[in-house]
Amino acid sequence: MISATAQRRHAIDLDDFTAEEIEEILETTGSMKEVLSREIKQVPTLRGRTVVNMFYEESTRTRISFELAARALSANIVNFTARGSSVEKGESLIDTVRTLQALGAEIVVIRHSQSGAPYLVARHFNGAVINAGDGRHAHPTQALLDLFTIHERLGQIRDLKVVIVGDILHSRVARSNLWGLTRMGAQVTLCAPPTLLGPATYWTTTWPEVTISYRVDEALQGADVVMALRIQKERMQAGLLPSLREYSRAYALTPERLAGLSEKTLIMHPGPMNEGVEIWPEVVTAPNAVIEEQVTNGVAVRMALLYRLAG
Ligand code: NCD
Repeated sequence: MISATAQRRHAIDLDDFTAEEIEEILETTGSMKEVLSREIKQVPTLRGRTVVNMFYEESTRTRISFELAARALSANIVNFTARGSSVEKGESLIDTVRTLQALGAEIVVIRHSQSGAPYLVARHFNGAVINAGDGRHAHPTQALLDLFTIHERLGQIRDLKVVIVGDILHSRVARSNLWGLTRMGAQVTLCAPPTLLGPATYWTTTWPEVTISYRVDEALQGADVVMALRIQKERMQAGLLPSLREYSRAYALTPERLAGLSEKTLIMHPGPMNEGVEIWPEVVTAPNAVIEEQVTNGVAVRMALLYRLAG
């Protein structure tokens, strides 16, 4: 029997992933992590296949980890950045994708500042499309690596209390994590000042299970996982925050604020961090912070997804 999940062509958001498919990916990620722990960190699985990283927006960890993931599977990986390409001569996204296809691309990994850009690419490309972050819409591989990290550390996702704190309004990481976490049975609390959350009904109609809180000390009580998000100044209109100082005073993850939590509570951040704004340096280096592990796990998760889509 062919399961529906075996036929997935693209990974654009987690909204169309079942719990079963997510579990399978997390399991494959474990095997990929084992490959990466070997002396020779490479398997021939995707030998001869071509992956193109198409990055229209800045990135460090996501771009490099897709590259490392493709290489660990022996795929050919080409990095395309809008700067220095024919995009600067006015070539459209669709023409660019068609060109890459003509050059032999089979999997396209795309990051774009425009929400929805990966759907457009998927309509004009015969291969697989992986979304590496589009506007404020989605960042599925970040959510998968977060789920993997939580599961690896705490042995479960179901019934955990996960508090997401920060600039939720502009965050694609929050949106993809909401799909993934709720589908896996976690209890999610969103915590932000009202201007960085937007209308509460938007969240509660899309994800009826979520709890909204405007007070971080209240929200943090009993948390199993605390995920801080970056204040995304580049996506922000003027006036949403009185000042970064005031934001920090009311919402930053400081050692004092986290003092009441269990020592098992995981502290996460997708990076890049504004240390001293949304998270304190002492929290970043605390024993229960898994921020670097998230980055490391990103390679194995992306291997698992490339493998699945190339299949
Ligand atoms: C995030 C992104 O680009 O969406 N970073 C990442 O991929 N790890 C989060 C952010 O930019 O704040």
